Amino acid sequence: MILVTGGAGYIGSHVCIALLDAGLDVVAVDNLSNSNRTSLQRVQSICGRSLVFRYTDIRNEDVICDLLRGYGVTAVIHLAGLKAVGDSNVRPMAYYENNVLGTMRLVSAMKRANVMTLVFSSSATVYGIPKYLPLDEKHPLGPTNPYGRTKLIIEEMLKDLCRSDDGWRISNLRYFNPVGAHESGLVGEDPLGVPSNLLPFVAQVAIGRREKLRIWGNDYDTPDGTGIRDFIHVVDLASGHLSALRQLERPGLTTVNLGTGNGSSVLDVVRAFEAASGRSVPYEFRERRAGDVAVCFADPTFAQDAMGWRSTRSLEQMCADHWRWQLQNPDGYQDSAPAKVQARSGHRGRHA
Ligand code: NAD
Ligand code: UD1
Repeated sequence: MILVTGGAGYIGSHVCIALLDAGLDVVAVDNLSNSNRTSLQRVQSICGRSLVFRYTDIRNEDVICDLLRGYGVTAVIHLAGLKAVGDSNVRPMAYYENNVLGTMRLVSAMKRANVMTLVFSSSATVYGIPKYLPLDEKHPLGPTNPYGRTKLIIEEMLKDLCRSDDGWRISNLRYFNPVGAHESGLVGEDPLGVPSNLLPFVAQVAIGRREKLRIWGNDYDTPDGTGIRDFIHVVDLASGHLSALRQLERPGLTTVNLGTGNGSSVLDVVRAFEAASGRSVPYEFRERRAGDVAVCFADPTFAQDAMGWRSTRSLEQMCADHWRWQLQNPDGYQDSAPAKVQARSGHRGRHA
């Protein structure tokens, strides 16, 4: 049994699908501060298998400890946290409390329940401004915002934990830019308010919810002047968690980049999205966004070497899947009717 914190969220719901599809049992916990329980109903419909959901906060150490013991959990995948960079500048303490304190309480519950296998969601944001590219795991760290600093503090904390007790097996995954959605179009990213990330904004322009994309800067030192990022399909990212779990026979903490190794510019994304959707994505160039870097992409070699994992889905597929989700759920999970799904052949039953 695997406990997934933040299981109802964007990445969590895709991780739950990957686990259920691999035949593993799942307890998902979430305080629904940035998600909707509909996502997990749909996860179960897609997989034709049920999972256990508990509406709780990871800071409730006793509740988490009881869940770990009660369900015979063997490993935890920890995705719960706050993740908006801009928001973290405005209310940093909420980020320290949720992310850092939340993780402290979680590992304390794990220790009490003698569950010492953990996969942690870190972020490429810990690298800060690239000193060289592609970014490998040895690149110096220097996050430039409170959100990133919470991730770095947690990474250091987890390293100390491993030094203190060789029973811990921790996989520290640094995600690059997760985008896309499950191929069914039933689960995907459902941002609150105006999206600050590129793909959700582009998708909302394509569907006519927003007039035009504002491209933050066209004077970067890149071939078309716009920023370059390593976009990774969320389904590939989710499968990386399964690979990490399998690799966790080794003691200690292992840090792994989850990226594709390919950089795409903002204009590449606009063109790929237009091709995938058949809609136009009007845009205008604006000033650079504070805190943005010109280029950021991963060296994914270590993920391949250490866990036998690599991403397989193209930018075209990321856009096509993101678009299917957007088209089928123009308002996200809000007001969602029961999932319009057929369980995959080979699976039985539907549990929502
Ligand atoms: P998300 O907001 O969709 O998912 C996070 C989930 O955690 C939400 O469902 C939220 O309700 C829940 N949550 C938050 N605080 C909680 C708490 N104290 N107790 C219980 N549940 C809580 O975000 P996501 O994109 O799925 O991100 C998942 C993880 O991956 C986060 O830790 C994030 O920092 C990390 N990450 C995300 C990205 C990205 O671009 N999406 C990039 C790098 C790292
Ligand atoms: C941001 C976060 C990063 C986080 C990541 C994934 C910052 C500084 N960094 O990264 O910590 O891990 O999201 O959640 O916020 N763009 C536009 N117009 C838009 C939106 C984006 O031109 O409306 C451009 C950006 O300038 C950038 C690229 O698109 O060049 C990608 O932006 P975004 O999706 O926000 O991701 P990051 O900035 O890479």
